[in-house]
Amino acid sequence: MASHPSAAASGQFEIGGDITINRLGFGAMRITGRGIWGDPADPKAARETLRLVPELGINFIDTADSYGPFVSENLIREVLYPYKGLTIATKGGLARTGPEIWRPLGRPEYLRQCVMMSLRRLGIERIDLWQLHRIDPAVSRDEQFAVIAAMCKEGLIRHVGLSDVGVDDIEAARKYFPVVTVQNRYNLVNRASEDVLVYCEKHAIGFIPWAPLAAGALARPGSALVEIAKALNASPGQVALAWSLKRSKVILPIPGTADPQHLIENVAAAEFKLSDEAFAALDRQGRSVL
Ligand SMILES: NC(=O)c1ccc[n+]([C@@H]2O[C@H](COP(=O)([O-])OP(=O)(O)OC[C@H]3O[C@@H](n4cnc5c(N)ncnc54)[C@H](OP(=O)(O)O)[C@@H]3O)[C@@H](O)[C@H]2O)c1
Repeated sequence: MASHPSAAASGQFEIGGDITINRLGFGAMRITGRGIWGDPADPKAARETLRLVPELGINFIDTADSYGPFVSENLIREVLYPYKGLTIATKGGLARTGPEIWRPLGRPEYLRQCVMMSLRRLGIERIDLWQLHRIDPAVSRDEQFAVIAAMCKEGLIRHVGLSDVGVDDIEAARKYFPVVTVQNRYNLVNRASEDVLVYCEKHAIGFIPWAPLAAGALARPGSALVEIAKALNASPGQVALAWSLKRSKVILPIPGTADPQHLIENVAAAEFKLSDEAFAALDRQGRSVL
């Protein structure tokens, strides 16, 4: 293992003031089937990917009850329980009625069921970081926040994060509980959440950019970053991740993969030192394909 890269090189972040993680984490949505539905196409590779996660110094894993559904949480438990030194962040609040179908469902009794069932599947008594996957527009926002605050008081949830939100949502939620992380789509070619990132920086809230590789588009052959990556002697995915790590100290990227070699390649991005000039060039390249 000595020759493998370590996520520790990405630097550290303190979640909620009491959980220190290495900034480069792992997104566990891809260890499921097509349409994020059912079992992964190659279960052996998915398990091997998970097994490698802690060996590569990753100590922050992002998952959700809806990934599979349940497949991702179940595999994490099977391969990594009792999670020594790992922070498992999960989410709830989306109903799955088929492949690629995601429906916000924020009725308090459902949010409570999500938390209770994640606890059971993961085999734990308290969730270190539970994230509301989506605010359900059909249910009052306050009702959703109130039941989450109650579950924190009951000791079922240690810290709360939000996903796919605007600044106004974060401020409304902070009246009920400290918001320690926000998870929005953000990468070199998608900067729609720039205002949310700036807000998170100001309040020391972890910003978890989902799809840091633009769902693979930035990493695969044909990536818009191929030329610039070649010049930097790295892979396109690595420079995309190195860019996000340098963009802000509160950014906690969680690239997703079910391929052990891709995982190793992604973690190596933590050790890649991006100069200010290369950062600026990548930034320009990213904006040109926005
Ligand atoms: N909060 C939300 O609403 C939300 C939404 C989406 C995702 N997420 C979270 O964010 C995480 C990351 O997002 P994501 O998985 O959608 O997108 P991503 O990390 O941008 O890209 C993942 C895709 O890129 C491919 N890939 C990864 N590393 C690669 C490499 N080195 N070379 C070539 N291809 C590579 C993966 O395929 P292989 O398996 O073949 O490597 C996969 O298809 C998810 O896993 C999930 O935890 C959250």
